[in-house]
Amino acid sequence: MKQTSQFVCNECGYASPKWLGRCPSCLKFNTLVEEAIAPVQPVKNAVRAFSGKSKAVPLSRVRYQKFERTSSGIPEFDCVLGGGIVKGSLVLIGGDPGVGKSTILTQISAHLAKEHKVLYVSAEESCSQVKMRCERLGLDGEDMLLLNETNLEEIESSISDEEYVIIDSVQAIYTDALSSSAGSVGQVRECATHLMRIAKSRGITFFIIGHVTKEGTLAGPKVLEHVMDTVLYFEGENSDSFRMIRSVKNRFGSVQEVGVFEMTETGIFGVKDYSGIFLSDTRGIAAGSSVTPSESGNRCMTVEIQTLISKTAFGQPRRMSLGIDYNKLVVLIAVLEKRCGLQFFSQDVYMNAMGGIKLNEPSVDLAICAALASAYYDVSIDKYTAFFGEVGLTGEVRGVAYADKRVNECVKMGFRRVVLPDKNAKLCEKYKDKIELIPVSYVSQMVKLVKNPEKT
Ligand SMILES: Nc1ncnc2c1ncn2[C@@H]1O[C@H](COP(=O)(O)OP(=O)(O)O)[C@@H](O)[C@H]1O
Ligand SMILES: [Mg+2]
Repeated sequence: MKQTSQFVCNECGYASPKWLGRCPSCLKFNTLVEEAIAPVQPVKNAVRAFSGKSKAVPLSRVRYQKFERTSSGIPEFDCVLGGGIVKGSLVLIGGDPGVGKSTILTQISAHLAKEHKVLYVSAEESCSQVKMRCERLGLDGEDMLLLNETNLEEIESSISDEEYVIIDSVQAIYTDALSSSAGSVGQVRECATHLMRIAKSRGITFFIIGHVTKEGTLAGPKVLEHVMDTVLYFEGENSDSFRMIRSVKNRFGSVQEVGVFEMTETGIFGVKDYSGIFLSDTRGIAAGSSVTPSESGNRCMTVEIQTLISKTAFGQPRRMSLGIDYNKLVVLIAVLEKRCGLQFFSQDVYMNAMGGIKLNEPSVDLAICAALASAYYDVSIDKYTAFFGEVGLTGEVRGVAYADKRVNECVKMGFRRVVLPDKNAKLCEKYKDKIELIPVSYVSQMVKLVKNPEKT
């Protein structure tokens, strides 16, 4: 039988007809992934006949293409997409199991089905389960087409003149071209590329659901993101009712846009007033908590960071973080040890961002350091003080973007003091009457403020 697939090394491109644990070329382990071999058309004459369709155009003669946008029926979701669903685009929605991916897409499909042709391909659940969900959510999706199928070729042949297709989920479908099982990196990559070709050639809008692996990336490192137009990730704890959807890539809008949603029994809805969601009631009482204004896309939110420090029982001290990059935490602990003399080598450190939100901006550094210093000295930080600024390895506090927007949010939320980088202080002077600005150039200045709060 003719071979239809081969195994290619992700690192160096070495191809082998069989799977190998170690690439013989670059000697890396576990890098070989199955790929389909595209059939090569026999060329009669050696010279390739050009169609002449591709032609370069001068920039001055390029015409604007208007992107047609449709509302998803959930205004908050439209915001995350940059103003609505763009026709013919490929949208990937990633998140942990049970976070609400199927729920939100069922809601959107039912809304779109009122005016458009929508096909919901449910590879994970049976049609009756989807119907049950529709009934539970009180949706009127009579005209929505359902398909319970896992084979990509079958799915392709059942798409006729649909405008919107939902694939739930990409890890559950497989193509005949590859022998590996559904959900493997090769399958996921091949299926996503194939769906992209269908979307672009036929102008169909695809919503693709993807499960996040333990490492937090979609099946294999970034295998899906580059073929997508828009990539959205769900954030939030399953035990909590709030969910955030963040756009990490968007060819038709700004990235890092965050939508705040609430999961209720009747579905997922946008939260208009999200102030206070990421703040606790015990703020200002217990040591180890600090607040930072975090900027995401078009909005600014004040988020609380909580820290707990306890003596290491034996062996290596533990560091654990939720919602904050682990490496960032380790680096900032090292900065505080070296530049400010705080000692964490015999202390376990646990850190958590409230409400399950992910804080990955550099501007949260100063608030992380403040929470660490507060927990270390066992002194609580005043409830009306906020912090923002990037902390460098030498202990300097660097200026950050959108400083005035951040200060404005603190004013709006009723904060009375904000500790900010010296470099940003001038820009924020207009808020002087409304809020006390405390500019700092070094992280040690901030640590002193936290240690001796009565002096401020
Ligand atoms: N019968 C039900 N009644 C109330 N809530 C439910 C019911 N079934 C599921 N849910 C809730 O819906 C949430 C999201 O489910 P779902 O959208 O299927 O997640 P995903 O597709 O991301 O795995 C679950 O966490 C669960 O809390
Ligand atoms: Mg699901």
